[in-house]
Amino acid sequence: MIVLPGTTNSHLAADLARRLDARIEAPETKRFPDGEAYVRVSEAVKGEHAVIVQSTYPNDRFIELLLLQDACRRTGARRITTVIPYLAYARQDTLFKTGEAVSMEALARCITLDTDEVVTVDPHKEHILRFFGGKATSVSAVPDIADYLQEHAKPDLLLAPDKGALDRVERAARHLGVEFDYLEKTRISGTDVEMKPKALDVKGRRVAILDDMISTGGTMATAIRQLKVQGATYIAAACTHGLFVGGAEERLRSAGCDAVLATDTLEGPAAVIPAAPAVARLVASL
Ligand code: R5P
Repeated sequence: MIVLPGTTNSHLAADLARRLDARIEAPETKRFPDGEAYVRVSEAVKGEHAVIVQSTYPNDRFIELLLLQDACRRTGARRITTVIPYLAYARQDTLFKTGEAVSMEALARCITLDTDEVVTVDPHKEHILRFFGGKATSVSAVPDIADYLQEHAKPDLLLAPDKGALDRVERAARHLGVEFDYLEKTRISGTDVEMKPKALDVKGRRVAILDDMISTGGTMATAIRQLKVQGATYIAAACTHGLFVGGAEERLRSAGCDAVLATDTLEGPAAVIPAAPAVARLVASL
């Protein structure tokens, strides 16, 4: 087995190779002056099980992934496993309005062409895996996030930012043996929304809010401000995929967040929880 890191997840790929006791062969990657991507993989891939590790964010990394898959196939890899730590476009997973693209389906169609299987971490919704025609499996970093929270934040209450995210939070809470709830939004006026736990009181409690991703941090920041007013003594914002666009971490801290945590499916200062243990368990079982 040879692990091939693309440009998005060198840390996770190295961790994965170590855990799988596999060789790591970094492909040659560069950009042409017009921005086009170039990749070249080592001849060592011939006859091997190649494990490509590349997220599809930002957009040009998706192109790089397709090139890596093509290069592995042409070089004669015996088997190609595509590990996509952060699978972008998963939120556009259905036709919300006529005339739209179902973006996840369009990307999945391309990704499945040159691979034997796809492994991804905590996709936005599990049903998107069907777009990969039976080739995709997901793993969850939720138990690892829960363990990290227990060691570093010691929450006594886990909250989902909305009812749709409750399943993930329930799994983490049951893993830790703490209470859980979801935040219910009530519109107070044209501009104001109240967010509070559906059933529980946060007064005097150490709270962790867990979401699959933090993008602008807008959802979390609104929740954090209100939970502070409601008396939470400590608030951690945790997610699998920390995109943190446009100063999101700062936005969360200004809202009163005590800790911002993410896995390393996307690299960055908050990416303190390794996703490789979960990925390695699955890849080793393939
Ligand atoms: C939404 O469905 C996702 O699960 C996240 O809650 C959302 O993408 C977070 O976005 P933002 O950080 O921009 O509020």
